[in-house]
Order: sequence, then C-alpha cells, then structure tokens
Amino acid sequence: MRPGRLCPSDYAIEEKVYEKDFPDHDKGLYIIGGLYGNPYALDEIEAMQVRDPEPVSLCFNGDTHWFDCDPDLFQDLEERLNCHYRSLGNVEAELLRTGDQEIGCGCAYPSSTSDAAVSRSNAIHKRLKEMVRESQIPVDSFQNLGKVQVFTVYGLRLLVLHGDEKFLAGWGCSAESLQEPGRQQELEAFMESYQIDVIACTHTCSQVIYEGKATLVINNGSAGMGTLAGDPAGLIIRLGQVAHPDAIYSKKMNHVYVELLRVAYDLD
Ligand SMILES: [Fe+2]
Repeated sequence: MRPGRLCPSDYAIEEKVYEKDFPDHDKGLYIIGGLYGNPYALDEIEAMQVRDPEPVSLCFNGDTHWFDCDPDLFQDLEERLNCHYRSLGNVEAELLRTGDQEIGCGCAYPSSTSDAAVSRSNAIHKRLKEMVRESQIPVDSFQNLGKVQVFTVYGLRLLVLHGDEKFLAGWGCSAESLQEPGRQQELEAFMESYQIDVIACTHTCSQVIYEGKATLVINNGSAGMGTLAGDPAGLIIRLGQVAHPDAIYSKKMNHVYVELLRVAYDLD
C-alpha cells in the first residue's frame, strides 16, 4: 500500500488502555484536535478559555503540528502546549519515526481520498520532518504522549483519542463510517463494555456527530482549519457544567454539556 494510505501496525491501540481508571476532572475541558500548526487558532482558543463561563482546561489530541514548517514557530507552539493535556496524532508519530519505512504522513487515507490529496499530504509532512531534522528540534518528548486520554468530567466518562478506538489514524469515526449501522452497533457495544459515555476524536478534517442511545461520538474535524462548508473557522469540543452561549452544538448528558465551539481565528 502507498505511503499516506498505510496504517502502520504500531498505530494499533491495545484494548487494555480502556480498562484503566478514568480520573476525575471536575473542571470544564476544551478538546483541541488538529491545530495543524496554526498559532492564530491557538491565540483565539486561549482567549476563549479566558472568556468561558467556567474554568476550563485545554486538552490536545494530536496533529498539533502541520503547517508550522518554521523552527521558531514549531518550537513556540511546543512551549505553549507543554503545560496542557496532550496525546499523539499521526503527525507527531511520523515525526518521531526513524528508519526507511515508507509510511508518508501517516494519515492512512481511505479510498475516497484522491491520490493527489494523499501526495500533497505526504509532501507537507516530508517538508515538516526535514525542517525538524535540519533544525535539530528535539521531538523525543512525543514518545511520552499516549494514544488515548481518559477523564471523568463531572461524572461523565470521556475517552479522547485521535482517529478511532482501534488505530491512531483510524477512520472509524469519520462522517462516512458513522453513517453505517454496523459501525454504529460496534461503537455502541464498545462504549457499553467500557462504560464510556462520550468519545471525542478528530483526524478526518470533517466534523461529525453520532448520537447513540445514551452515548455520543463527537469529531471536531479540525481546530486550526475550516471544517464546515463555507466557514474558515476551526472547531473545538467543549465539556462544561454551564452551557456556552456561543455553542453551535450542545447536548446535555448527565448534567454535563457536550458542545462544539467555533474557533474564529484572525484571518488577517
Ligand atoms: Fe491525523
């Protein structure tokens, strides 16, 4: 299989990670997937955090880098991210990878993505990786990032991941996959077996929500690029005890609001 379409075996997520405790997090949470190296989006998210009706923590679930092919910008973003919750995306995983495996960007694109788009994606990641190496930017700390994060937010059991529950770059939570009844049943069974109320994910650059019987799968698409047709703003996922006045989606689950917020970063 071609680079960019391949899902490497080390992207597999061991099910035992879902058996561990989901620690209490009695504070709101922003889940920021796919910042894609956009410092203006991060500026706006930090400002949103200050304006939020309640205290919120920031949680990044991968692909924080992408268009930041500049040593100062890359390192500045790293400094700004280091004090927050973080987990791995395929962009970070492929910056870490050594050897001569032809993985490309690690996006593991499905057949519905054009070969031209896959080639562009591989080229962007190659350029980013060359910049990191030539500038000798240390990325060893990415080894410490897990593939998933778990929280109990005001009693709601939350799983944060990048692609899907099986693979770091899985497309099982894409708009197309979440329309399939078989996949919906599979997710319902998975979430029931680990008592997971909400899965928050990203990776596909296309926002989608699946509302199950008592569960929710919410994919923000991307925080640092436009993800809704005709709207250049990114999106982030918010969990809080108080409804956010600007949420474009809001669902109350067990006294917790699970929402989508626009990231209307400065385009100038
Ligand atoms: Fe990704």
